[in-house]
Amino acid sequence: MTYRETNLVASIERLSGAPLVALAQPQRDHVDQFHAGGAEAVDRLLPGLGLTPAMTVLDVGSGLGGPARQVARSAGCRVVGVDITPAYVEAARALTDAAGLSERVGFECTDLAALDATEFDAAYTVHVQMNVADKTRFFGEIARRLRPGARFAVFEVCRNGAAEPVLPLPWSLDGTDSHLVAAEELRATIESCGFELLDWADESAWIRQWFEQTPARVAAAATRALLPALLQDGPRRMTNFAAALFGGVVSVHRGCFTRTRAVRPIA
Ligand SMILES: C[S@@+](CC[C@H](N)C(=O)[O-])C[C@H]1O[C@@H](n2cnc3c(N)ncnc32)[C@H](O)[C@@H]1O
Repeated sequence: MTYRETNLVASIERLSGAPLVALAQPQRDHVDQFHAGGAEAVDRLLPGLGLTPAMTVLDVGSGLGGPARQVARSAGCRVVGVDITPAYVEAARALTDAAGLSERVGFECTDLAALDATEFDAAYTVHVQMNVADKTRFFGEIARRLRPGARFAVFEVCRNGAAEPVLPLPWSLDGTDSHLVAAEELRATIESCGFELLDWADESAWIRQWFEQTPARVAAAATRALLPALLQDGPRRMTNFAAALFGGVVSVHRGCFTRTRAVRPIA
């Protein structure tokens, strides 16, 4: 399993030289967004979700909770994050407490299939389905938890051909939990699970720019508390991801869908 880090809060505090509560928002953004594009990627997802403060939103594979807190801050809504990695959920809760958002942002350590709550007003998932072999089941489980008409957004890594990206990668250390599919296959799978397509965009060029700007971003951050420093073999994983993108081996796609009325039962 790839997500093996523990004691993340202690690591963040050691790297930043300050307690979590003393970190300003821009400092948290450098450490809690576990995907290419950082907080800007979440900004690009938000318009498609059409959120209002009255809504409750599901974040599938919420990681350290950076996207969930950003969505709650931006839209004024409530967010429920689910993730299967206990240490990430623990860190997400601590970071949310430190940000003063615990009343509106909560996290459950569970597989989505075991989540009781349904009737969410919207959902999104960011850099998660690469870990999921049975994507029909995964997106079907999401559809079942949304009210009809709810929006669903994805920001995901896809393969471009037969070539495999070099390991380790941010989502997989040894390849056993990497299940990349082509963008068209991903989009068609989501549509087959009870979603109607609203928008589908290849974000690879923008993500390549984001990687190119990484040195300047790191210098401006003036902190050692950066996501790659938290992760096992983090810098190599990020470098391999960037190389796969620049080499055209993988792409990054953003999609937005509406949950239709017909959702097929999970087998
Ligand atoms: C690359 S991280 C992305 C985290 C977060 N979405 C973000 O962008 O900051 C992938 C996350 O997906 C979670 N994950 C993987 N498979 C999952 C599953 N079947 N259900 C819930 N979470 C899952 C992992 O524990 C990890 O936190």
